Amino acid sequence: MLSKNRLRLAIQKSGRLSRDSQNLLKKCGIKINLQKSSLMAFAENMPIDIMLVRDDDIPGLIMDGVVELGIVGINVLEEEKLARKFLGTAAQSYKILQNLDFGLCRLSLAVPMDTEYLNVFCLKNARIATSYPHLLKKYFDKKVFFFKPFVLNGSVEVASNAGLADAICDLVSTGATLEANGLKEVEVIYRSSACLVSQNMNNIPLFKYQLIKKLLTRIQGVIKARE
Ligand code: PRP
Ligand code: ZN
Ligand code: MG
Repeated sequence: MLSKNRLRLAIQKSGRLSRDSQNLLKKCGIKINLQKSSLMAFAENMPIDIMLVRDDDIPGLIMDGVVELGIVGINVLEEEKLARKFLGTAAQSYKILQNLDFGLCRLSLAVPMDTEYLNVFCLKNARIATSYPHLLKKYFDKKVFFFKPFVLNGSVEVASNAGLADAICDLVSTGATLEANGLKEVEVIYRSSACLVSQNMNNIPLFKYQLIKKLLTRIQGVIKARE
């Protein structure tokens, strides 16, 4: 059972950010007992509970006030905010406390290697597979033309190979996934890295606020030392 007297911090269970997130907490002197199959871990030497979840769920957990802190990509955070705005959901607030020095990636448009591509107008009316429909819409709204979004929560790169889409819009880090799927990156629409994010600070009790400040100072120290 979660204790109200402990700070709750959500990190990615498995994926690009998990190892770096765990290392950062370790470097901050937090002793965590991570059990492979468990979704919860308890810090031994600080009143902090760590929740291991899908990165895509972290923004919602913060905005709905389930956890006070999270480590997540700014792209996922922005997408959730836009999605909630679109749906008219009241809870959309959060605060980025610190940009982190890992999880660097970009949200890009990519097309099959053999597609002739001059500029973004080649994608007018194109069918585009993505897990980020709202960030993509924001980008195309600025270009003032229409496209057909197609939401896939994973394996987006496969969509164009399978003939489901003319283009894809997905995260690129090293570019290996695009290459492996015969795709070329043609436009960068959003740049992202991991960040430490919190609930709106007004809702946080004083002792938790102080603990967050202490943790933030340590995180800033770790980042500074790595520069
Ligand atoms: C992203 C993206 C690609 C991969 C690209 O997934 O969806 O699959 O990383 O990385 P590369 O350019 O280095 O090959 P992510 O790790 O965010 O996982 P998720 O889609 O399951 O959230
Ligand atoms: Zn994800
Ligand atoms: Mg992926």
